[in-house]
Amino acid sequence: MKRIAVVTSGGDAPGINAAVRAIVRTAIDKGWESFGVRHGYSGLANDDVLPLGLRDVGGIIQRGGTMLGSKRYPEFKADETQLKAIRFLRQRDIDALIVIGGDGSQAGALALSQKGLPVVGIASTIDNDLCGSEITIGVDTALNVALEAIDRIKVTASSHERAFLVEVMGRNCGYLALISGIAGGAESIVLPETQSTPETIACELRAAYERGKAHAIVVVAEGACYNAESLTRYFEEHRERLGFELRVVKLGHVQRGGTPGVFDRLLATRFGAAATECIARDEFGVLVGLSKGDIATTPLIEVVGRKKTLDPHLLVLASVLAK
Ligand code: F6P
Repeated sequence: MKRIAVVTSGGDAPGINAAVRAIVRTAIDKGWESFGVRHGYSGLANDDVLPLGLRDVGGIIQRGGTMLGSKRYPEFKADETQLKAIRFLRQRDIDALIVIGGDGSQAGALALSQKGLPVVGIASTIDNDLCGSEITIGVDTALNVALEAIDRIKVTASSHERAFLVEVMGRNCGYLALISGIAGGAESIVLPETQSTPETIACELRAAYERGKAHAIVVVAEGACYNAESLTRYFEEHRERLGFELRVVKLGHVQRGGTPGVFDRLLATRFGAAATECIARDEFGVLVGLSKGDIATTPLIEVVGRKKTLDPHLLVLASVLAK
């Protein structure tokens, strides 16, 4: 008999609810009790915890966001806040904590684990910038949202022979931009990981027109050196010389709020079930993720703060295909 708690921290991601549901139901199947922490690490530091039974997680698998709520809570970096959270969990006789989130959340998980709390992390962020998992919860849905937007923009861009810039999320990682740019057939992809200047982007767009294209789409990662704001400024200042205008669409949080697709629901369900298995075999201080299509665990110490790199083959392919 165990008592386990789950917290969803940092940016939400479509599919998190499927993971919570799987945790609660696989825990109950083992005869354990489950609890949910509300509002991320803030709830952990303030003992905002509720019991979760079978019916509490009914009807949530298809909902984006997180039923438990989440919050950016930088205060959790402080040792005393972490120790307070551990005290609250011990007072409630909680045996283990599952942390669903990205790099910042797993940094908190590692800190708790190093202070003696049995913790298991689950890889979840639309950015896909977390080491220890080739893909994280929410990425696939966010990509499909971005792709639908790009496809729609392309239609109207072609009618009016316009160039459009679509900025996608991803923080300092270009994964969302690279994949949605390739899948959306972008003429130019601007990433934090590569060097593009406004001039090189303008050349790529002009070349697209010269090859007879009726549209030109540039997909920009929000963390790129030149993002939507700076590129808009440049294209406005140089409009006469460049000969065309650039319309801008920032997708922002639209990408995070999608209804989870089948890939994310299944991935999150597998991750949730795997996390309770980790607890059952006393495997703690690890992240549950995906490696070569299989569930794998990686020590949190090898995950936190490390930079995930983009596939160099995809980078080459992106520039070859943008013709
Ligand atoms: O990490 C997920 C993410 O959506 C990033 O892509 C983005 O930069 C950030 O969160 C936005 O954070 P917030 O919702 O706190 O503004």
